[in-house]
Amino acid sequence: MGDPILSIKGVTKSFGGLVALRDISFDVGEGEVVGLMGPNGAGKTTLLNVVAGEYAPNTGMIKFKGQDITKLPPYRVCHLGVGRTYQIPQPFVTLTVRDNLLVSSVYGRGIRKSTAETENDEILALVGLTEKKDTPAGSLPIQLLKKLELARALARKPKLLLLDEVAAGATEAEIPKIVETIRHIRNMGMTIVIIEHVMKVLVNVADRIVVIDKGRKICEESPNAAMCDPKVIEAYFGA
Ligand SMILES: Nc1ncnc2c1ncn2[C@@H]1O[C@H](COP(=O)(O)OP(=O)(O)O)[C@@H](O)[C@H]1O
Ligand SMILES: [Mg+2]
Repeated sequence: MGDPILSIKGVTKSFGGLVALRDISFDVGEGEVVGLMGPNGAGKTTLLNVVAGEYAPNTGMIKFKGQDITKLPPYRVCHLGVGRTYQIPQPFVTLTVRDNLLVSSVYGRGIRKSTAETENDEILALVGLTEKKDTPAGSLPIQLLKKLELARALARKPKLLLLDEVAAGATEAEIPKIVETIRHIRNMGMTIVIIEHVMKVLVNVADRIVVIDKGRKICEESPNAAMCDPKVIEAYFGA
Protein backbone atom coordinates (compact mmCIF):
# COMPACT_ATOMS: atom_id res chain seq x y z
CA MET A 1 0.00 0.00 0.00
CA GLY A 2 1.27 3.50 -0.82
CA ASP A 3 0.42 6.40 1.48
CA PRO A 4 -2.96 5.55 2.98
CA ILE A 5 -5.88 7.82 2.08
CA LEU A 6 -7.33 7.17 5.56
CA SER A 7 -5.31 6.46 8.66
CA ILE A 8 -6.95 5.62 11.99
CA LYS A 9 -4.53 5.50 14.92
CA GLY A 10 -5.28 4.55 18.53
CA VAL A 11 -8.88 5.77 18.46
CA THR A 12 -10.87 5.48 21.67
CA LYS A 13 -14.40 6.84 22.09
CA SER A 14 -16.50 6.66 25.24
CA PHE A 15 -20.09 7.66 25.89
CA GLY A 16 -20.14 8.32 29.63
CA GLY A 17 -19.00 5.03 31.20
CA LEU A 18 -19.46 3.03 27.99
CA VAL A 19 -16.30 2.56 25.95
CA ALA A 20 -17.61 2.16 22.38
CA LEU A 21 -14.16 2.08 20.71
CA ARG A 22 -10.87 1.00 22.31
CA ASP A 23 -7.56 1.79 20.72
CA ILE A 24 -8.64 1.14 17.11
CA SER A 25 -5.95 1.45 14.42
CA PHE A 26 -5.92 0.59 10.73
CA ASP A 27 -5.16 2.20 7.38
CA VAL A 28 -7.12 2.28 4.13
CA GLY A 29 -5.19 2.56 0.87
CA GLU A 30 -6.36 4.67 -2.05
CA GLY A 31 -8.81 2.67 -4.18
CA GLU A 32 -9.24 -0.04 -1.57
CA VAL A 33 -12.54 -1.44 -0.33
CA VAL A 34 -12.37 -2.25 3.37
CA GLY A 35 -15.25 -4.09 5.04
CA LEU A 36 -16.12 -3.39 8.65
CA MET A 37 -17.82 -6.25 10.50
CA GLY A 38 -18.84 -7.04 14.04
CA PRO A 39 -21.89 -8.02 16.09
CA ASN A 40 -24.59 -5.42 16.91
CA GLY A 41 -23.26 -2.80 19.31
CA ALA A 42 -19.61 -3.58 18.43
CA GLY A 43 -18.86 0.08 17.62
CA LYS A 44 -18.94 0.06 13.79
CA THR A 45 -21.28 3.02 13.32
CA THR A 46 -19.44 4.94 16.05
CA LEU A 47 -16.20 4.47 14.13
CA LEU A 48 -17.76 5.88 10.94
CA ASN A 49 -19.12 8.79 12.99
CA VAL A 50 -15.67 9.51 14.41
CA VAL A 51 -14.13 9.46 10.91
CA ALA A 52 -16.91 11.69 9.51
CA GLY A 53 -16.43 14.25 12.31
CA GLU A 54 -19.77 13.57 14.02
CA TYR A 55 -17.87 12.81 17.26
CA ALA A 56 -14.32 13.70 18.24
CA PRO A 57 -12.52 10.68 19.72
CA ASN A 58 -11.30 10.81 23.34
CA THR A 59 -7.84 9.77 22.21
CA GLY A 60 -6.22 8.88 18.90
CA MET A 61 -5.87 10.50 15.50
CA ILE A 62 -7.62 10.33 12.13
CA LYS A 63 -5.78 11.44 9.00
CA PHE A 64 -7.38 11.85 5.58
CA LYS A 65 -4.96 12.31 2.65
CA GLY A 66 -2.24 13.08 5.19
CA GLN A 67 -4.22 15.83 6.92
CA ASP A 68 -5.20 15.58 10.58
CA ILE A 69 -9.03 15.67 10.61
CA THR A 70 -9.48 14.38 14.17
CA LYS A 71 -11.22 17.47 15.47
CA LEU A 72 -12.86 18.82 12.33
CA PRO A 73 -16.67 19.18 12.25
CA PRO A 74 -18.66 17.03 9.76
CA TYR A 75 -19.13 19.75 7.13
CA ARG A 76 -15.36 20.33 6.93
CA VAL A 77 -14.65 16.59 6.66
CA CYS A 78 -17.31 16.38 3.94
CA HIS A 79 -15.82 19.26 1.98
CA LEU A 80 -12.40 17.56 2.06
CA GLY A 81 -13.96 14.64 0.18
CA VAL A 82 -15.46 12.20 2.67
CA GLY A 83 -19.02 11.06 1.87
CA ARG A 84 -21.16 8.87 4.05
CA THR A 85 -24.53 7.17 4.32
CA TYR A 86 -26.54 6.83 7.52
CA GLN A 87 -27.66 3.45 8.85
CA ILE A 88 -31.06 5.09 9.42
CA PRO A 89 -31.68 7.05 6.20
CA GLN A 90 -31.76 10.84 6.67
CA PRO A 91 -33.28 12.32 3.49
CA PHE A 92 -35.15 15.63 3.20
CA VAL A 93 -38.56 13.97 3.30
CA THR A 94 -40.58 16.72 1.58
CA LEU A 95 -38.13 17.02 -1.34
CA THR A 96 -38.24 14.75 -4.38
CA VAL A 97 -35.52 12.17 -4.96
CA ARG A 98 -33.98 14.42 -7.64
CA ASP A 99 -33.96 17.46 -5.33
CA ASN A 100 -32.38 15.48 -2.50
CA LEU A 101 -29.43 14.84 -4.81
CA LEU A 102 -29.37 18.48 -5.91
CA VAL A 103 -28.92 19.57 -2.29
CA SER A 104 -25.81 17.36 -2.11
CA SER A 105 -24.33 18.67 -5.38
CA VAL A 106 -25.22 22.34 -5.13
CA TYR A 107 -24.56 22.89 -1.40
CA GLY A 108 -22.02 20.11 -0.92
CA ARG A 109 -19.88 20.85 -3.98
CA GLY A 110 -20.92 24.33 -5.07
CA ILE A 111 -21.62 23.32 -8.71
CA ARG A 112 -24.36 24.69 -10.97
CA LYS A 113 -27.80 23.16 -11.06
CA SER A 114 -27.62 22.28 -14.78
CA THR A 115 -24.28 20.46 -14.42
CA ALA A 116 -25.52 18.70 -11.31
CA GLU A 117 -28.71 17.45 -12.96
CA THR A 118 -26.88 15.65 -15.78
CA GLU A 119 -24.48 14.00 -13.33
CA ASN A 120 -27.25 13.12 -10.92
CA ASP A 121 -29.29 11.41 -13.65
CA GLU A 122 -26.34 9.03 -14.08
CA ILE A 123 -26.19 8.41 -10.34
CA LEU A 124 -29.94 7.69 -10.20
CA ALA A 125 -29.55 5.21 -13.06
CA LEU A 126 -26.59 3.57 -11.32
CA VAL A 127 -28.46 2.95 -8.06
CA GLY A 128 -31.76 2.14 -9.80
CA LEU A 129 -33.87 5.14 -8.80
CA THR A 130 -34.55 6.77 -12.18
CA GLU A 131 -38.24 5.92 -12.10
CA LYS A 132 -38.62 7.50 -8.68
CA LYS A 133 -36.88 10.76 -9.37
CA ASP A 134 -40.01 12.91 -9.00
CA THR A 135 -41.27 11.07 -5.92
CA PRO A 136 -40.98 12.81 -2.53
CA ALA A 137 -38.39 10.99 -0.43
CA GLY A 138 -40.87 10.70 2.45
CA SER A 139 -43.05 8.28 0.49
CA LEU A 140 -40.31 5.80 -0.46
CA PRO A 141 -40.14 2.36 1.22
CA ILE A 142 -37.01 1.53 3.23
CA GLN A 143 -35.16 -0.38 0.47
CA LEU A 144 -35.46 2.64 -1.83
CA LEU A 145 -34.48 5.01 0.97
CA LYS A 146 -31.26 3.00 1.31
CA LYS A 147 -30.62 3.54 -2.40
CA LEU A 148 -31.35 7.24 -2.03
CA GLU A 149 -28.90 7.41 0.88
CA LEU A 150 -26.21 5.99 -1.39
CA ALA A 151 -27.16 8.30 -4.28
CA ARG A 152 -27.02 11.38 -2.02
CA ALA A 153 -23.54 10.44 -0.86
CA LEU A 154 -22.40 9.86 -4.48
CA ALA A 155 -23.78 13.24 -5.58
CA ARG A 156 -21.05 14.85 -3.47
CA LYS A 157 -18.43 12.97 -5.53
CA PRO A 158 -16.42 11.92 -2.47
CA LYS A 159 -12.89 10.48 -2.62
CA LEU A 160 -13.69 8.30 0.36
CA LEU A 161 -17.14 6.79 0.79
CA LEU A 162 -18.33 5.45 4.15
CA LEU A 163 -21.27 3.05 3.79
CA ASP A 164 -23.33 1.94 6.78
CA GLU A 165 -25.39 -1.19 6.03
CA VAL A 166 -26.69 -0.17 2.62
CA ALA A 167 -27.75 -3.77 1.90
CA ALA A 168 -29.69 -4.23 5.16
CA GLY A 169 -33.27 -5.24 4.38
CA ALA A 170 -32.48 -6.17 0.77
CA THR A 171 -33.95 -9.40 -0.57
CA GLU A 172 -31.69 -12.26 -1.69
CA ALA A 173 -32.53 -11.35 -5.31
CA GLU A 174 -31.34 -7.77 -4.86
CA ILE A 175 -27.87 -8.65 -3.53
CA PRO A 176 -26.10 -9.18 -6.92
CA LYS A 177 -27.24 -5.73 -8.07
CA ILE A 178 -25.91 -4.14 -4.86
CA VAL A 179 -22.56 -5.91 -5.32
CA GLU A 180 -22.42 -4.71 -8.92
CA THR A 181 -23.20 -1.13 -7.89
CA ILE A 182 -20.46 -1.07 -5.25
CA ARG A 183 -17.94 -2.52 -7.71
CA HIS A 184 -18.93 0.14 -10.22
CA ILE A 185 -18.40 2.88 -7.61
CA ARG A 186 -14.98 1.49 -6.83
CA ASN A 187 -14.11 1.47 -10.52
CA MET A 188 -15.05 5.15 -10.64
CA GLY A 189 -11.99 5.64 -8.39
CA MET A 190 -13.57 5.89 -4.97
CA THR A 191 -12.12 4.35 -1.84
CA ILE A 192 -14.77 2.64 0.27
CA VAL A 193 -15.20 1.64 3.90
CA ILE A 194 -18.30 -0.52 4.12
CA ILE A 195 -20.16 -1.77 7.18
CA GLU A 196 -22.25 -4.77 6.20
CA HIS A 197 -23.83 -7.79 7.82
CA VAL A 198 -24.65 -9.39 4.48
CA MET A 199 -21.60 -11.62 3.99
CA LYS A 200 -22.29 -12.17 0.31
CA VAL A 201 -21.77 -8.46 -0.24
CA LEU A 202 -18.52 -8.23 1.73
CA VAL A 203 -16.96 -11.36 0.25
CA ASN A 204 -17.62 -10.01 -3.23
CA VAL A 205 -16.47 -6.42 -2.80
CA ALA A 206 -13.95 -6.13 0.03
CA ASP A 207 -10.17 -6.41 -0.32
CA ARG A 208 -9.75 -6.60 3.42
CA ILE A 209 -12.01 -6.97 6.43
CA VAL A 210 -11.61 -5.35 9.83
CA VAL A 211 -13.66 -7.01 12.55
CA ILE A 212 -14.59 -5.12 15.71
CA ASP A 213 -16.01 -6.74 18.83
CA LYS A 214 -16.97 -4.76 21.95
CA GLY A 215 -15.05 -1.77 20.66
CA ARG A 216 -11.80 -3.66 19.97
CA LYS A 217 -10.30 -4.65 16.65
CA ILE A 218 -10.05 -8.45 16.74
CA CYS A 219 -9.11 -9.21 13.15
CA GLU A 220 -7.82 -7.58 9.96
CA GLU A 221 -7.54 -10.07 7.11
CA SER A 222 -8.75 -11.02 3.64
CA PRO A 223 -12.50 -11.77 3.51
CA ASN A 224 -11.98 -15.53 3.31
CA ALA A 225 -9.48 -15.59 6.18
CA ALA A 226 -11.71 -13.34 8.31
CA MET A 227 -14.74 -15.67 7.89
CA CYS A 228 -12.69 -18.62 9.19
CA ASP A 229 -10.92 -16.76 11.99
CA PRO A 230 -11.84 -18.44 15.33
CA LYS A 231 -11.90 -15.03 17.07
CA VAL A 232 -14.48 -13.81 14.56
CA ILE A 233 -16.60 -16.95 14.84
CA GLU A 234 -16.51 -16.64 18.63
CA ALA A 235 -17.54 -12.97 18.49
CA TYR A 236 -20.59 -13.83 16.39
CA PHE A 237 -21.62 -17.21 17.75
CA GLY A 238 -19.92 -17.57 21.16
CA ALA A 239 -17.14 -20.04 21.97
N1 LIG B 1 -24.55 8.77 20.83
C1 LIG B 1 -24.42 7.74 21.67
N2 LIG B 1 -24.61 7.88 23.01
C2 LIG B 1 -24.48 6.83 23.85
N3 LIG B 1 -24.14 5.59 23.48
C3 LIG B 1 -23.94 5.39 22.16
C4 LIG B 1 -24.06 6.43 21.18
N4 LIG B 1 -23.79 5.92 19.96
C5 LIG B 1 -23.51 4.63 20.15
N5 LIG B 1 -23.59 4.29 21.47
C6 LIG B 1 -23.32 2.97 22.07
O1 LIG B 1 -22.06 2.56 21.59
C7 LIG B 1 -22.04 1.16 21.33
C8 LIG B 1 -21.66 0.91 19.87
O2 LIG B 1 -22.76 1.33 19.06
P1 LIG B 1 -22.66 1.34 17.47
O3 LIG B 1 -21.42 2.01 17.07
O4 LIG B 1 -23.94 1.92 16.98
O5 LIG B 1 -22.59 -0.21 17.15
P2 LIG B 1 -22.75 -1.01 15.77
O6 LIG B 1 -22.88 -0.01 14.67
O7 LIG B 1 -21.52 -1.86 15.67
O8 LIG B 1 -23.98 -1.87 15.93
C9 LIG B 1 -23.42 0.65 21.69
O9 LIG B 1 -23.38 0.14 22.99
C10 LIG B 1 -24.28 1.89 21.60
O10 LIG B 1 -25.39 1.80 22.46
MG1 LIG C 1 -24.39 0.36 13.34
